[in-house]
Amino acid sequence: MDKLLIEGGVPLVGEIAVSGSKNSALPALAACLLTAEPVILNRIPQVRDIGTMLDLIGHVGATVSSEGGRVTICAGRIEHPEAPYELVKTMRASSLVLGPLVGRCGRARVSLPGGCAIGARPINLHVSGLEQLGAKVRQEHGYIEAEAPHGLRGAHVQFDRISVTGTEDLLMAAVLARGETVIENAAREPEVADLAALLTTMGAKIEGAGTSTIRVQGVAKLGGAEHTIIPDRIETGTFLIGGALTGGDLTVRGCVPEHLRALIAKLQQAGVEVTEPAPDALRVRVTGRLKNVDITTEEHPGFATDLQAQFMALMTQAAGISFVTETIFENRFMHAQELARMGANIRLEGRQAIVAGPTPLSGAQVIASDLRASASLVLAGLAAKGETAIDRVYHIDRGYENIEAKLAGVGARIRRVRS
Ligand code: EPU
Repeated sequence: MDKLLIEGGVPLVGEIAVSGSKNSALPALAACLLTAEPVILNRIPQVRDIGTMLDLIGHVGATVSSEGGRVTICAGRIEHPEAPYELVKTMRASSLVLGPLVGRCGRARVSLPGGCAIGARPINLHVSGLEQLGAKVRQEHGYIEAEAPHGLRGAHVQFDRISVTGTEDLLMAAVLARGETVIENAAREPEVADLAALLTTMGAKIEGAGTSTIRVQGVAKLGGAEHTIIPDRIETGTFLIGGALTGGDLTVRGCVPEHLRALIAKLQQAGVEVTEPAPDALRVRVTGRLKNVDITTEEHPGFATDLQAQFMALMTQAAGISFVTETIFENRFMHAQELARMGANIRLEGRQAIVAGPTPLSGAQVIASDLRASASLVLAGLAAKGETAIDRVYHIDRGYENIEAKLAGVGARIRRVRS
């Protein structure tokens, strides 16, 4: 297993470019299964989860060709409308093929994902949404088997709670259903709106994506399209926090500031200077001491759970007590213990982490437990005195493109040791 070695204490200074959004690219790739015509997707990040989704799409029977971040998918025929356990267990977002496969083929067999490091993460909302569109769904041998031999029909679906991939899965099922579907309590994440933009280019009729009510008029068929994936707001946020944590002066280029309002507000409250030097750029600078700030994770446009671990690392260097409350996932504090091994003072009380700062961080050997936890350890390593060795780097490779080269480009002393 590869390791990352970081010699900390160097401020991040300069310009860093952001990649395409992993969480937007995943549903976009699944959406390609809805048409027999070729779909070209630009700015697909080259990260491990995308590789897994491309394997899954190939398994289903589509042809995949890629050149850098430009990927062409052609699902002329779907031979195996199924997502096997081997692929779903490595990436839960594999369940995103359920909606498109039932919509296009009238049947799908998708392995149930198991538990996950950050919480139980069931897919009951995806399943009940499909049932409301008329699919018969059974669970057998660890698989969800869905059937709608005469096609899906539109319905009024009220989600019990907000789910990002649940909204995306149902949206993809609804575009080929007969009649109108209304999705209430839909996720408002920019990734949902990006998926709707792609589907609309393919010929779907969708209104309200990006708000909590989405209306879809089903169409008989979708065609080919070309689409460019939005920038990764979580990668952007991770770099901004890294710039602040190392006391640097960092400009992130190629981002959408509008997608990061909650983080920007919290950074400013913490005493970080945040400016927008261009419509697609954000710059962070720290001139004084960092101040304590409380955060509570929420669905978009609230503070993203995917930036909670990184913000906690920042708060270890702020003066005072910060309360970090996680409301989306029940077990997303695995980084706290590792940050404590580097010198942080963090107490966990249920869904709340209480961080007392500032405490100097010192390099240590730490283990990455999930994608965003690893990102927080990388940031802590960049700010710490001495060497930090991060084990199980495959977690970070799931979602950050070329992270060590990007960070090295703005001054970080970071290298990968291959095993
Ligand atoms: N939930 C249910 N039933 C369901 C679906 C979700 O109870 O059928 C619960 C979950 O257990 C969780 C909450 O609802 O407590 C919200 O989960 P959601 O479904 O929104 O999460 P997701 O769609 O599985 C996506 C991102 C995650 C991100 C969350 C929350 C993708 C591929 N993944 O997951 O990204 O944390 O939304 O914003 O879009 C990451 O990139 O590191 C990551 C984990």
